[in-house]
Amino acid sequence: MKALVLSGGKGTRLRPITHTSAKQLIPVANKPILFYGLEAIAQAGIREVGIVVGDTIQEIRQSVKDGSSFGLNVTYIPQEAPLGLAHAVKISKDFIGKESFLMFLGDNLLKEGLADLVQEFKDKKPNSQILVSKVPNPQQFGVVEVDGEDRAVRLVEKPKMPQSDLALVGVYLFDSHIFKAVDEIKPSGRGELEITDAIQWLLDHKYQVICKRVTGWWKDTGKLEDLLEANRLILEGIKSHSDTASQVDSKSKLEGRVVLEAGAQILHSTVRGPAIIGKNTRIYNSYIGPYTAIYHDVSVEESEIEHSIVLEHAHLKNVHSITDSLIGQRVEVIKSPATPSAYRLMLGDSSRVEIP
Ligand code: G1P
Repeated sequence: MKALVLSGGKGTRLRPITHTSAKQLIPVANKPILFYGLEAIAQAGIREVGIVVGDTIQEIRQSVKDGSSFGLNVTYIPQEAPLGLAHAVKISKDFIGKESFLMFLGDNLLKEGLADLVQEFKDKKPNSQILVSKVPNPQQFGVVEVDGEDRAVRLVEKPKMPQSDLALVGVYLFDSHIFKAVDEIKPSGRGELEITDAIQWLLDHKYQVICKRVTGWWKDTGKLEDLLEANRLILEGIKSHSDTASQVDSKSKLEGRVVLEAGAQILHSTVRGPAIIGKNTRIYNSYIGPYTAIYHDVSVEESEIEHSIVLEHAHLKNVHSITDSLIGQRVEVIKSPATPSAYRLMLGDSSRVEIP
């Protein structure tokens, strides 16, 4: 069995962060989202992985390399434009060959592993196995209508009037009949070949599609709120750990579960977990509140921040206080003594600032 990981897409809902970096590489609890999926695939016993990539191919290749650090053998499959998930399947036909495969959307995060799912597919040998989860906003997903026995009857991509609150989770299993399906379907209203339509084609042609409900949590991290929630859910499960090369001075306090990575320095500060402070990050005279993940080489001075994600090389100085935020690489947020006392901003395209 092989796996196909989809890491193209433009990440429009996470601009401006995604102007310069792939959404799948945004760290959640200080680990790129994509890595959680690759680890779960390796744990399920799959070795051969094709990663479908778009404009951000260089960045993804640079961080995943040949996959050996995950115990995987990775092949990169370039997609010329984000023409849909079913299009990604279509262009991966040579890579997959005649085998069955697991398809995983690189921006999805799932609490439960993939091993049981893969085993069930191998045992029952349906033509496809899909995962579903109840959501409050089904119109933003592929929606699955099921009968009394949880058998899929109809699948619709982002319906305006959803007939069910079961969303398609970004984890699918297929045998090679899916290649016939993706050849038969037509582009949707948004001009993409939808995997949802391809699965509907399988149903229409009497192929067996098994529908499974997710037992743990699941997050599609396409938007800021979802990313912060995923960060919260993962931090919820961390255990305290301080790397031997980290430092906490006698004026500082760590409360609750806190992870300090190598070279992290906590000076004159309080960190209230669950929180994670990255490699060579320096926290000085500050308060880091619950559900905060600060990545590597960040400097936080005389500031307060909670429930946020801060990316590498960012610098916060004298700011009280930041919450519910995603702060990009090399971003500076500083209080300025200059007059007139006013906001001075240099923000990238599609940035968003909320001011009290
Ligand atoms: C895609 C699929 C959708 C699925 C979702 C899960 O949507 O088209 O059916 O429910 O992933 O994350 P997209 O994130 O491309 O809008």
